Amino acid sequence: MNPVIADESAIHKAADLLRQGRLVAFPTETVYGLGADAKNPDAVKRIFAAKGRPVDHPLIVHIPDFSALDEWVTEIPDSAQQLADRFWPGPLTLVLNKKPDVPTEVTGGQSTVALRVPAHPVALNLLQAFGGGIAAPSANRFCRISPTQASHVLEELGDAVDLILDGGPCQVGLESTIVDLSFGQPKLLRPGQINRLQIEEVLQRELILPQNPTIRTPGMMEVHYAPVTCTILCTTRQLQTIFQYQKFQDKKIGVVNYSLELVESPRVHVVTMPRQVDDYAHALYSTLRELDHLNLDIILVERPPQKEAWRAINDRLGKAAKSFSEEEESSITCRGIIEFLSLLLSIN
Ligand code: TXA
Ligand code: MG
Repeated sequence: MNPVIADESAIHKAADLLRQGRLVAFPTETVYGLGADAKNPDAVKRIFAAKGRPVDHPLIVHIPDFSALDEWVTEIPDSAQQLADRFWPGPLTLVLNKKPDVPTEVTGGQSTVALRVPAHPVALNLLQAFGGGIAAPSANRFCRISPTQASHVLEELGDAVDLILDGGPCQVGLESTIVDLSFGQPKLLRPGQINRLQIEEVLQRELILPQNPTIRTPGMMEVHYAPVTCTILCTTRQLQTIFQYQKFQDKKIGVVNYSLELVESPRVHVVTMPRQVDDYAHALYSTLRELDHLNLDIILVERPPQKEAWRAINDRLGKAAKSFSEEEESSITCRGIIEFLSLLLSIN
């Protein structure tokens, strides 16, 4: 199903499809969502089937404005009111205790529900036209990179979706920040463009942070949001080492570069990323997707700054790429990285 320009008539058609329990992909400011009527369990089940996603992974319910929150949650804590006042519509999802009639299909059987008001005119118009909540995960197949353009949705889901609304490229380019307000202390579940410090400033208290991911070792870590091509996150020094090494010169290598001066060659495709954090985020998924289309042997990503403002980007890169654990990173020798890559690329 080819994407259609999201004009008024396409949006009304999409709202009709949602009422019929069908699936509609639509743009938000973060990434494209795969939407279904959040109060229709059969429609919600179709989302899981289309994505190949395990049914215990809960979905985000998109609502048109703060006043619609009442319909979904048992209680609205002051913290939710404060964050919504400041950041909605916008790339922030709040997890709250759900009302009994919220389908368990949406919440993966949990007693909480995740909600957000998206800041995209097409998403908001669709929510108005539909008149209810839209459950929507990112419109990609499970464990793949989220789509930031309508064509990516087509590539990911093809005919599994009944209509794709094309609203152009997503401005933010990374999934929303998720904050759990369902128990005493607010907890950051997923970093995003709205960062920890901004949230803490509004709440006037510290957030509980996500657990440090378990030590990542090459080949062993959980890969999520991932390109198909083997992707490795490297320090600047490691990347320099790899480039000085002759053995890899007949391999097709993609580089997502941040600070190095690298020379392109027919076998080395270099994409130099923007220096500014929001611009980097905006470009990240489409860059990885583009490189994934080039039939490369490997994609090397230069680790961007490790600062708080870059937390969401580092989080997604950590999931998209294999990387070395911190201990390994400080101790790994040039020889070590060369040996590792030689093995990976089957070079003797
Ligand atoms: O920016 C976004 O959030 C996009 C757009 C489409 O809105 N959506 C998105 O959905 O990223 P998805 O399904 O790819 O990610 C939803 C995340 C999952 O990590 C899920 O575990 C978490 O939200 N989540 C949903 N409901 C939850 C709940 N009740 N408790 C904790 N986490 C929840
Ligand atoms: Mg997703």
